[in-house]
Order: sequence, then C-alpha cells, then structure tokens
Amino acid sequence: MTDTITIKKSFDAHVHFRQGAMLKAVVPLTAAKWSRAIVMPNTEPPIETVETAVTYKKEIFAAVPKGNPFEPLMTLYLTKNLSPAEIEKGMADPPAGGCKIHAVKSYPYGATTNSQWGYRSILEAKDVLKKMEELGMPLLLHGEVHVNKSGEEVDPYEGEQLFIQDVLPRLLDKFPKLKISLEHLSSKIAAEFIERNGKAGQLVATITPHHLLYSREEAAPKPLLRCKPLIKTRADRERIRALVQRGLPFVFAGTDSAPHPESKKFSSPGAYGVFSAPTALELYAQVFDELAALDKLENFLSVNGPRFYGLTGCEETITLEKKDWQIEEPVVTEEGVRVWLLGDRQHGVGNETLRWQIPSA
Ligand code: DOR
Ligand code: ZN
Repeated sequence: MTDTITIKKSFDAHVHFRQGAMLKAVVPLTAAKWSRAIVMPNTEPPIETVETAVTYKKEIFAAVPKGNPFEPLMTLYLTKNLSPAEIEKGMADPPAGGCKIHAVKSYPYGATTNSQWGYRSILEAKDVLKKMEELGMPLLLHGEVHVNKSGEEVDPYEGEQLFIQDVLPRLLDKFPKLKISLEHLSSKIAAEFIERNGKAGQLVATITPHHLLYSREEAAPKPLLRCKPLIKTRADRERIRALVQRGLPFVFAGTDSAPHPESKKFSSPGAYGVFSAPTALELYAQVFDELAALDKLENFLSVNGPRFYGLTGCEETITLEKKDWQIEEPVVTEEGVRVWLLGDRQHGVGNETLRWQIPSA
C-alpha cells in the first residue's frame, strides 16, 4: 500500500528569488509546488519602495509558467530610506500599482547576505515601526544580534539567543500591537520563547526544513548547509522539532530557500543560504512523518501562514506520496550557473534520501 497525504496547496512564508537568470530558474520551482510565497526583499539594490516592489513583482510573474496560479506576495526591506509614508502607500486600498505590500523585513546590519542596508539596532527605526503598528503591517525579523553594545562581534552561535533575550523584549515593550514574525527559528531559546508567547495573528514564527533536519555537528563542515542563522546543536534541533510537533497555530513553514551560485557557495567564505525550493515540501513531510505528526502538516504548511497575513487558505490541493528518491543534480540557470539543493546526496552529510515525493510535480 502506498502512503499518500493530500493537503491544501502550501504557503511559503519566506523565500528568496533573487533577480535575472537566477530568478528565472528558481521561480518556476516554487510555483510548481506552492500556491503563494512571501518574497524577501534583500536583492541588489534592495526592495525599499512600493515602486521597486511593483517592478520586482512583474519580473517574478514573467517567470511563472503560463496558467500557473502562483502568487508572489511582496515585502519591503527596512532600510534607512524606508519612510512611514511608504508603509501607508504599501497598505493602500486599492494597492498602488496593483501591488500590496504584505510585510517589512528587518535584517540586522552585517548579519547575512545583503544585510548591509539594515539598521544596527532595529529600535532606531521607531517612526516606521510606529506606522506599521498603527496600520497592521507585519514585521519580519531576522532575529540575530551581530555585534554587542561595544561594537564587538558576538559568537554567531549566540546571536539569536541574544536577540530573543535582549532586543525582542524591548521591541515588544515599545510596540505591543506590532504584528511580528520571528523568521527561521534556530535555537532552543527561541522555540521556548515562541511557545510561551506566540499568538496567532500577532506573534508568530517560521521554521525552515534545514533547521529541522540537521545539527551543528553535521552542518558546520558543509558549505551546502551554511546559512544564517547558523544550524545549531542537536538539542536545539530537537526543541524546534518538538515545537512543530505541537501543531500550534502561530508556527508555520518558511523555507528560506536562498539560492547562490555554486562558485559563491563552495568558495571561501561560502555564501549564507540553503536552496530548498524544489525539496522543502517533501522534507517537511518527512520530518512530520518522523514525528508521527502528519495530521499537523496541513496547518503548518497551508493554513497558519495565510492566517497571519490575513489571507484565506488555498482551495487547490497537492498530494505527497511516501516513496524514496535521491537528488544528484543541481538546478542550472540559462547562463549555465549551477545551484545545489537541500537534500543533495553528495553535498549534504552523505547519501541523503528523501522519503516523500510529489508524484505530479
Ligand atoms: O542563510 C541565509 N540566506 N540567511 C539569510 O538571512 C539570507 C539568506 C540569503 O539571502 O541568502
Ligand atoms: Zn531569508
């Protein structure tokens, strides 16, 4: 007997599409399996105005195969140029240029790919945050502290913990009604925080497949698994697994699929980012199966995310089948650039086998 599971088509609450040839190669892969996705704005230059979001959305739509109903949901980057007026424009009804802005993303300066436009301390952005709180615009947090108060680099394995313990309480205190999503939780401390304080529609968290699958010991030597926040210890991973296993309405999928060319990923220092668009859905199913929590998969993948963004669930469905497969090949852009995938047999810990697949994809 084959095991299958049919769920509403899923919502990726965190994806990087890049631009140009890379975008053309990766957008169809997300569109094939996901109904909608929250698109990250850390392009070069960053998406920091509604006008650039409109142009970027058109570039994404042009890469979606004809007839595919996939919908990219646009965000703005919290740079020093982002003004309260732009937040108002992003929430205008009807939307300016037909492009509603669904969230604002904060990258701490210097923490990851293209984070050079972020604030050193998010609390400096108070006027924009006030406007977001007033209008109900969600704030997506890359929750890591990169440098301490004296300007010294902190241990990157400690950055998320420091953020949760030091920055987040001050942010919540100053902006109690601000809708916040803690992106890509990676640590026990963050999982515990969200389990205690999370609230649907108000304070939520996204989880990547790679933070559910690997531990620091396995990931640290592997450029393929180099990402921010860094993959933490086994105990951290187990705590994040326990969090998703509970089926809480304020915890949901955000793949953080972040493609980089092979040349940048495998040279030193390797780029931060795990490309998972073609395999994330299957890997989430694998983890939920291991946790005997497949009954919680649909809410995690397809219901809780749209709810936070005030959107309805998707009526279309997708079926996954329990059947082993392996990945040996990269995705190749039209310029011949190779991009390796999460789950790859050779560049992960070795001989990775995916346990679920989507027969129709
Ligand atoms: O691993 C990551 N890659 N973390 C981020 O925050 C950014 C992302 C990227 O854009 O490559
Ligand atoms: Zn990201």
